[in-house]
Amino acid sequence: MSLSGQRIAVLGGKNGLLGQALTRVLERAGATPFPLSREDCDILDPMSVEQWLDRHDPDTLINTAAYTQVDLAEDEPDKAFALNATAPPLLATMAARRSIPFVHYSTDFVFNGQKTTPYSEYDEPNAMSVYGVSKADGERGLLKLGYDKTLIIRISWLFGPDRTNFVKKILGLADAHPTLTVVNDQMGSPSYTPDIAENTVRLLEKKATGIYHLANSGETSWHGLANMAVNLSGKNCFVKPVPSSAYPTKAVRPPYSVLDLSKFTRTTGVTPRRWEDALKQYVLEDLGLGS
Ligand SMILES: NC(=O)c1ccc[n+]([C@@H]2O[C@H](COP(=O)([O-])OP(=O)(O)OC[C@H]3O[C@@H](n4cnc5c(N)ncnc54)[C@H](OP(=O)(O)O)[C@@H]3O)[C@@H](O)[C@H]2O)c1
Repeated sequence: MSLSGQRIAVLGGKNGLLGQALTRVLERAGATPFPLSREDCDILDPMSVEQWLDRHDPDTLINTAAYTQVDLAEDEPDKAFALNATAPPLLATMAARRSIPFVHYSTDFVFNGQKTTPYSEYDEPNAMSVYGVSKADGERGLLKLGYDKTLIIRISWLFGPDRTNFVKKILGLADAHPTLTVVNDQMGSPSYTPDIAENTVRLLEKKATGIYHLANSGETSWHGLANMAVNLSGKNCFVKPVPSSAYPTKAVRPPYSVLDLSKFTRTTGVTPRRWEDALKQYVLEDLGLGS
């Protein structure tokens, strides 16, 4: 992979789960990434972003920054909408003024989960939570703006190094509890952040624009993901499947949000590896667990 010589600003790249993986992969691809935190550049303060862009003149602007606390968003809709719905089109406008590509991430939670086959880019969003609606509004704002160098990548169920995530939390809990209960009636596509990052680079190299779905291949439930992670780690813990009704959450989640990756494969010629292989790398190599 090569993005040689490209200067790429990564909003959320200093501390974010995906942003940090992306920063590393961009470096490996020969680019010069600028990982940014809220202190460097606050996306709720457009002037601070403009000034940063004027000073550093990047060739691409990538936005991984977002309001990502799905349940808390139900109590903080204003914050969620400011970050997820209002900010992205403003960022795209700044990229448009400089005629540089703008990459933005969205989520499987824009769908209501009533389908039983993978969601394609042509399926209509119909979110059921504040977080999902705010992210769908962000996408709509970008599409309405119509800047032709915009790439929107919908991803799902992230896990990976650098920051806590579902898998890491489960493995922490498995140390303290002989049994864990995890829901088995929500199906999705787990995504390993280094794989999402590498496949983002592939889309950048193809100069892809519009909406793309990206995840690891295959599908499972939260229980399936947790159970395999615990088994791989060798921890002595039984992961018991339970229905969502046994584990009420503030935000309603889609019961089925598996993403169809065929558009990505048609564009790049690459089929993302299966989530089980990526999970193995995360648990055994990144976390150094298992025998
Ligand atoms: N996590 C998932 O399972 C998942 C699933 C589907 C889609 N996504 C999407 O994928 C993208 C990346 O998610 P993630 O889990 O990597 O996010 P994350 O770890 O929660 O990181 C989000 C980053 O946003 C930054 N941020 C928040 N407010 C900001 C502001 N006002 N100005 C500038 N930066 C700000 C934070 O930077 P600081 O730390 O510097 O404050 C934080 O590092 C998001 O668009 C998310 O919606 C995530």
